[in-house]
Amino acid sequence: MNPIQMVNPAAEYRLMKAELDEAVLRVLASGRYILGPEGEALEKELAAYLGAAHAVGCNSGTDALHFPLVAAGVGPGDEVVVPAFTFFATAEAVSYTGAKPVFADIDPATFNLDPKSLIKSITSRTKAVIAVHLFGQCAALDQISKICSEKNLVLVEDCAQAIGADYDGRRAGSWGEFGGFSFYPTKNLGAAGDAGLMTARSAEHDKVLRSLRHHGTKQTYLHDRVGWNSRLDELQAAVLRVKLRHLERFTEARRKIAAGYRARLAGSGVALPAEHGRGRHVYHQFTIRSPKRDAIKEALAKEGIASSVFYPVALHQQPVYAGANAGLSLPHAEEAARTVLSLPINPTLSEPELDRICAAVRAA
Ligand SMILES: Cc1ncc(COP(=O)(O)O)c(C=O)c1O
Repeated sequence: MNPIQMVNPAAEYRLMKAELDEAVLRVLASGRYILGPEGEALEKELAAYLGAAHAVGCNSGTDALHFPLVAAGVGPGDEVVVPAFTFFATAEAVSYTGAKPVFADIDPATFNLDPKSLIKSITSRTKAVIAVHLFGQCAALDQISKICSEKNLVLVEDCAQAIGADYDGRRAGSWGEFGGFSFYPTKNLGAAGDAGLMTARSAEHDKVLRSLRHHGTKQTYLHDRVGWNSRLDELQAAVLRVKLRHLERFTEARRKIAAGYRARLAGSGVALPAEHGRGRHVYHQFTIRSPKRDAIKEALAKEGIASSVFYPVALHQQPVYAGANAGLSLPHAEEAARTVLSLPINPTLSEPELDRICAAVRAA
């Protein structure tokens, strides 16, 4: 029996091989490898796709969260509210600035930041909020953005897993003051290495983000702040431009696979991921919940089927943050960490593979 992987970047490459090969060879022949026309074109194309006023490429999704916080003036003594159930980088970006990540609970139905818990987490030191659109579905952006504007907080959207998702007709990354995207190879829009992108609402922030990604430069060899080396390279930009042309069809393929999972797993006893009905879920992950998740994972592994626990430890309980958060109880985040299991989902997954996965889940 062929093994089934969580993702299959090589199979996706084969679907776009001619276009990708042409793009990569074009960049190699051009001799321009960093911050050039491919990156500029990608920024324009993504700004248009996302409905964002400004888009600035960078080296990773982590930088794409860190730099907006710096641009917003977040620093030591400040607090930034983040959901406790997300990838570590969301909180890490806050810690880089010297500010304190304050962990809020999630809505158990959607895995996203619970607006009620957000309100409880706000103090006089809170400066910003990172709303993560986990697994490909937008957080409750209407309520969260209202809370942020009432309390004068900067809203940063963590869109690493949610490119192309929308909420009330507006795309992820166009709601907040800033949005951060990751193009890590396994993401819905994945590069052939590390890459990321920031969206911004204001032209002033666009300028600051461009400076931060490039050693704090305003013009060549004139530095008005200390920045970082987080430039987007031309090979990644060219790869991403090709893949962006296919993103809609791949997103719809993911949604079809999600529907296939729902049909096959209905009544199986596992909890299926909820759609909130306010916009498109782009299914970066298809995440089920079950008290038997470890047994299901093992049963799948015996059949040669990969599955992943995103994420096994809530952030307030991570060794690095646990000391500062002793006694903090976030029951929904903690329960999610105990019960979630993400099943393989990628645009190349076939119907027979879906049958095999679902049969193994049911049999567990
Ligand atoms: C929710 C979330 N935030 C941030 C990141 C960080 O992105 P990157 O790995 O590109 O730095 C990731 C991806 O790994 C992520 O899934």
